[in-house]
Amino acid sequence: MQPEFTAIAHPNIAFIKYWGNRDDVLRLPLNGSISMNLSGMESTTTVQFGAELKQDSFELNGETQSGSSLQRVSQFLDHVRRLANSNQYARVSSSNNFPTGAGIASSASAFAALALAASKAAGLDLSQKDLSRLARLGSGSACRSIPDGFVEWLPGEDDASSYAVSIAPKDYWNLVDAVAVISQEHKPVGSSTGHKLAQTSPLNAQRVQDAPDRLKHCREALLGRDFARFAEVVELDSHYMHAVMRTSNPPLVYWEPATEVLLWQVWQWRKQGHAVCATVDAGPNVHVLALADELEWLRKALLELPGVKNVLVGAPADGARLAD
Ligand code: PMV
Repeated sequence: MQPEFTAIAHPNIAFIKYWGNRDDVLRLPLNGSISMNLSGMESTTTVQFGAELKQDSFELNGETQSGSSLQRVSQFLDHVRRLANSNQYARVSSSNNFPTGAGIASSASAFAALALAASKAAGLDLSQKDLSRLARLGSGSACRSIPDGFVEWLPGEDDASSYAVSIAPKDYWNLVDAVAVISQEHKPVGSSTGHKLAQTSPLNAQRVQDAPDRLKHCREALLGRDFARFAEVVELDSHYMHAVMRTSNPPLVYWEPATEVLLWQVWQWRKQGHAVCATVDAGPNVHVLALADELEWLRKALLELPGVKNVLVGAPADGARLAD
């Protein structure tokens, strides 16, 4: 057996969302996106290749995987084998310390950690850019979990030019993400299927066309640490993505009634002067982005709202790294 490598990566929350691909196989996005890595939540993945292995194997949170879950990992390992010019199978074992598949982007941290662990285990020493490109092939948003802190995915035109870069280190701005968990169930329509539906929405072309304006607005608000401007564009962008989802054919509705109540409540808090705003991914859970000094009351207040089962808190975090 070859030496094993273990990598750790965090999920990320997008301020400006990625939804829809120009190329579904290469996961080239229709628009750029901006996100922050989330501390506290992480995927830890160990990979070992070996000439004696008869097939790839994948264990997630202690359970042996088969079917589509194993197939997705195995297809990803094919990219690593291609880069390393290897034909060896691998043993992959991974664990998440947060709920899988419930709008907390477990695929982002999973494929970012897998990209780093598998490339090292295959003897590759990829640059951060090439690691981000590789992670993108597993799950688009995973390319954003490779660089540190606050990150922008440059959409690019082809495989070589579509990757993520850090736009500010993790300590640049005291933001937190208080994730109000409404459901821990696996989402009914995964994002890989969802991306394909984006183009069926009559709103999609407009959303993509003015994405560069929102990216600029968000980048400036973030770099200027201007929460009011930031909140405005973050909520606009989230609503815009969910409008595209809801007007797709067939429609994709990820929200639950409690999602709507939470969004309304966050909006009231902001009107009262609190530095809070909300964004929702492909699931019902509400990510409440806030300045860190709002966290104490915010966490308690979220837990008192109907339908909120739990609150997970993430602060800006580094990108993917090898475990000690
Ligand atoms: O990387 P994927 O295919 O899981 O897509 C992520 C899509 C959203 O989470 C809804 C938005 C985003 O930019 O993270």
